[in-house]
Amino acid sequence: MSMSTASIFNRKARIILCAIIMLLLFMFLFKNMDYTLFSNRFNIYLQMKNGTVYRVKFLDIPASKQIKPQTLDNKPRSVTTMTNLATDFNKKLSFLGNLTYSKGNVQVYNLSLPNNDRFKCVSLRQGKNTPICLYDTKVDLHVSGSLARTGSWEAGYLNQVKSFLMQRPKAGLIDLGTNLGVYTLFISKTLQRPVLSVEPYYPTIRRLHKSIKLGKLEKFVTLVVNPITDTRETVYFRRSSNNQGDTRISQSKTNDRGLGPNSSHSILMDDLSDVANFTEAVMKVDIQGYEMKAFSHSKRFLDKVKIFAIFIEWEFYRNSKAHPLVPGFLEEMKARGLKPYSPGRIPLALTQWRKWPFDVVFKSDEVKW
Ligand SMILES: *[C@@H]1O[C@H](CO)[C@@H](O)[C@H](O)[C@H]1NC(C)=O
Ligand SMILES: *[C@@H]1O[C@H](CO)[C@@H](O)[C@H](O)[C@H]1NC(C)=O
Ligand SMILES: *[C@@H]1O[C@H](CO)[C@@H](O)[C@H](O)[C@H]1NC(C)=O
Ligand SMILES: *[C@@H]1O[C@H](CO)[C@@H](O)[C@H](O)[C@H]1NC(C)=O
Ligand SMILES: *[C@@H]1O[C@H](CO)[C@@H](O)[C@H](O)[C@H]1NC(C)=O
Repeated sequence: MSMSTASIFNRKARIILCAIIMLLLFMFLFKNMDYTLFSNRFNIYLQMKNGTVYRVKFLDIPASKQIKPQTLDNKPRSVTTMTNLATDFNKKLSFLGNLTYSKGNVQVYNLSLPNNDRFKCVSLRQGKNTPICLYDTKVDLHVSGSLARTGSWEAGYLNQVKSFLMQRPKAGLIDLGTNLGVYTLFISKTLQRPVLSVEPYYPTIRRLHKSIKLGKLEKFVTLVVNPITDTRETVYFRRSSNNQGDTRISQSKTNDRGLGPNSSHSILMDDLSDVANFTEAVMKVDIQGYEMKAFSHSKRFLDKVKIFAIFIEWEFYRNSKAHPLVPGFLEEMKARGLKPYSPGRIPLALTQWRKWPFDVVFKSDEVKW
């Protein structure tokens, strides 16, 4: 009887002692652990000390396409405040950081890297059927929608850009606001000319990268991932739910906390001088209301690269009563011998810029329609 009581006591004592040791060991090992980061390519999962798991969704990719989370970084980390957390996050996710290299102020995407993302890609009809990768047409009605249905987008403008370039054998294309790459892919494929592309929005960049690789066009394209405006600063993306081509930047910090691919570092058009390796060009500019700001710091660049024609979206300036940057832009165009026309080739009067059409072509007399 007494023997058995003693043995039960000993067992209990051993279990309790064991539990205490385990607890101490755990406390020692995890004393600094405030959160753990898990990640796949699209989401970051954050597990707090109290067990709450947060998911930070970065990309508008249909749920069915998302891969299962894999442990990327499960090392315990110590953070004291949410501010530190955000900073740490930012460092961790200088998202494009390891996909790009720097030239001056410019971040250039390394197109030689592999891209195993899975997108729907179709043939770009005018571009010798080179592949072009799309968004789901539900979230990108216009450009992806049109490409999925017809394999083409802005065919008339594309042929005009090509015709101008064919008259200037040394000229390259400058494609500001490349989006899914219709102009970039078309010109690099059909004319094998150098193209300087600028596209800052990560989900779009990945599609563009994929299209360029599928078409084996890496050697023609330089892809810059900084948005162009009138400042060098951190800017944030504003998205549209059904038109990814309408993604635009915002210089106000209220929208987002500036984490991951929601933010980017803007540059000036002049900064492109460091990456343009051709000195004659045709330019397309479609940057959702930032066109005038982009041209407000462009003298050095325009001195380096002689432009024969600029295709520019005028939607954001027509009908505006006063726009402080338009007069300076028009003077600059005039000084460089670039005259405004409607896409239908009708000359436009400089004083009438408020009534110009949605798209305008500035053209030098050195190239013919
Ligand atoms: C866990 O901690 C986070 C902040 O660290 C807090 O926002 C959240 O409400 C906590 N969850 C629970 C269930 O206590
Ligand atoms: C870039 O970093 C991410 C996250 O750390 C990693 O998953 C990815 O493989 C890296 N890419 C390259 C090309 O090193
Ligand atoms: C681009 O990526 C390739 C393949 O990983 C690598 O060999 C090359 O050094 C990278 N180029 C630059 C400029 O980082
Ligand atoms: C221009 O840049 C492209 C892409 O970086 C490169 O492949 C090409 O060789 C360069 N051309 C010249 C003439 O330097
Ligand atoms: C990025 O922006 C989207 C849409 O505006 C938002 O839902 C998401 O929470 C943002 N992500 C971060 C990390 O701020």
